[in-house]
Amino acid sequence: MATFDYDAECNRQLDRVIEARRTVRSFTDEVPDRELIERILNAGLAAPYAAVAIGVEPRFRRFFVMPRGGEAALKTAEIMKRNTLAAWQNIHANLPEGMEPPPFAMRLKAIAEGGDIGFEKVPYFIVVAELKGIPPVEQESLAHVLQNMWLKAAALGLGFRLISATSRLADNPDFCGLLGLAPGRFGINGCAIGYAAETPAATPRPPLDEVTAWLD
Ligand SMILES: Cc1cc2nc3c(=O)[nH]c(=O)nc-3n(C[C@H](O)[C@H](O)[C@H](O)COP(=O)(O)O)c2cc1C
Repeated sequence: MATFDYDAECNRQLDRVIEARRTVRSFTDEVPDRELIERILNAGLAAPYAAVAIGVEPRFRRFFVMPRGGEAALKTAEIMKRNTLAAWQNIHANLPEGMEPPPFAMRLKAIAEGGDIGFEKVPYFIVVAELKGIPPVEQESLAHVLQNMWLKAAALGLGFRLISATSRLADNPDFCGLLGLAPGRFGINGCAIGYAAETPAATPRPPLDEVTAWLD
């Protein structure tokens, strides 16, 4: 038996949300209601988890909500800057002679030199942690969680930005201490949520038929 009866209007609305989703990188100062944030977290909680990999731990998924300018957000920014500096230095030291740093490395450099990480001016920075299991598929689960949250934020009229630098802190004792997690036990990732200051244009995608093969 189907768990969900086909509903044309519901599908139209789902398509609207998928199409409206954007990476938002500039936000207003308005702080979204806590209830909206909780609805987004519930969407993340509803995302699939790798049941066989994580076993019976009931709190396999955790959310940490950090308001802008709060102690946790400030400490996180500090830890992330130190971590980013180390990552940049490591890439720089290992670049083959004469090779330009790739765009990703230049972004690390800009942050290490004092640039914004991306959540400092946003009302909420949210860290999601997923228990590591066997096999280690926590990053896949986190992608599902964040995508659910992203679509829910879009449906609620809120802007969303992935802060993937967060994932580098999964083994960081200072950061894990801040969250009360054992270093290395969870995979983590993060996002910033608030009201968009402007609606970004849609980013390009190739035509479907150029990237799709129907095989016999
Ligand atoms: C795995 C992954 C990591 C990403 N990390 C970041 C990030 O750390 N900061 C950011 O601003 N955007 C990040 N993005 C957003 C992409 O740059 C964005 O999705 C892409 O440019 C397409 O734009 P759209 O999301 O508006 O469709 C990430 C996207 C993915 C899929």
